[in-house]
Amino acid sequence: MSSSGISSRAIFSPGKPLRGAISVPGCKGISHRALLFAALSDGRSVLRGLSLGGDVKSTLKVLEQLEIFATPTDGELTLQSRGYDLFTEPDDPLDCGNSGTTMRMLAGILVSRPFHSVLVGDESLSSRPMARIVEPLHMMGAKIVSTDGHSPIEIDGGVLTGCRHDLPVASGQVKSALLFAGMQASGWTEIHEPQPSRDHTERMLRALGAPIEVLDSTTVKVRAVGALDPFTLEIPGDASSAAFFVVAATIVPGSEITIKGVGLNPLRVAYLDVLIAMGADIESEITEERLGEPVGDITVRSAPLSGVVIESSEGIIDELPILAVAAATANGQTTITGAGEMRVKESDRIATTVAMLEALGVRAVATDDGMRIEGGSLDGGSVETYGDHRIAMCAAVAALACSGSTEIIGWDAVDVSYPGFDIDLARLRESN
Ligand code: S3P
Repeated sequence: MSSSGISSRAIFSPGKPLRGAISVPGCKGISHRALLFAALSDGRSVLRGLSLGGDVKSTLKVLEQLEIFATPTDGELTLQSRGYDLFTEPDDPLDCGNSGTTMRMLAGILVSRPFHSVLVGDESLSSRPMARIVEPLHMMGAKIVSTDGHSPIEIDGGVLTGCRHDLPVASGQVKSALLFAGMQASGWTEIHEPQPSRDHTERMLRALGAPIEVLDSTTVKVRAVGALDPFTLEIPGDASSAAFFVVAATIVPGSEITIKGVGLNPLRVAYLDVLIAMGADIESEITEERLGEPVGDITVRSAPLSGVVIESSEGIIDELPILAVAAATANGQTTITGAGEMRVKESDRIATTVAMLEALGVRAVATDDGMRIEGGSLDGGSVETYGDHRIAMCAAVAALACSGSTEIIGWDAVDVSYPGFDIDLARLRESN
């Protein structure tokens, strides 16, 4: 396996099993939230093991534009803040890069800040839906305007009033934006979702003592809070990054790996249950809790898989592409439905996942809200990432189960969430 280093092409070859132990980089979702909570705290917060991917760098850069600076020392990041008051009117548009989480959550904070701001993103982010935050924020009195439902988004911060939201689509990002807004609104802000979405914001806010109440798995409410208490946090490993190694070790015969110190929030590791239903040999154990988040180890041994029916994207929306790779190696057909949200991620992941599988010789068909995959053998070939980090890593994992080698075009997309993924994968394959 090698990556050219000078262009964004990489070649992966089949072969060796994966063996040994690994820690994956800090959870992207928890890293974004930890930075924003630290910025909203009154005092000095210390973060260890922050995600070093492009998305979290976007949050750090945007905070700098708002004059909130984090200082790196010895693998730690220290952020000294004074709560909401430290946010300062930016001179230029705030560049959220490829990161939907940065744009949506930040919008929820900026609608209450007494200044003008503009949020922009790269081409992919500019095509993603933003009406889903703009409309509920309007209901709270926010002055926020999108560009035909997309970014650039213009905000004139002001007074907010809490209200009840019934979201048409479950979304951790939208829910978090509304919770951030609710923390500066009068009265209660109550959010109902059609399905549970990831709950890092609720868990972390509760651990920080914020006035948040989780009524059931789809209902949460919050009311105004001054500054949050500063905190120290070692970010758990990213459960979604771990998924690539879990599937790799499952599909390459003779593999056995342990992923250590990884976030085991049930709404982030639901993919383990899908793989176990397919026949995977996986054990996970919670060893501790950090700021309300369960953390522990996952051990995986290779096992033959059978096709399944996946009827909902609840808790697995980001892992459906890598589950599709697992399905491509399985015995029989896998059907995914109820996953239309895949179409509005960093790429149209129904289209790009099917294109990736087809490029490797798999029979796969896209449907409106999912796909059908005929499991069997994979040949190898040339895959385009369409600038999507998860498609890049999926292709690298699929390549391990191919009969020939695989070229991945646009490999540097991995930097969005996991710079050095190829190096970590190589290390597991070399410790035989
Ligand atoms: C995220 C929520 C999910 C997920 C994204 C991160 C978050 O997006 O796909 O990668 O950190 O809250 P949606 O809120 O659009 O479902």
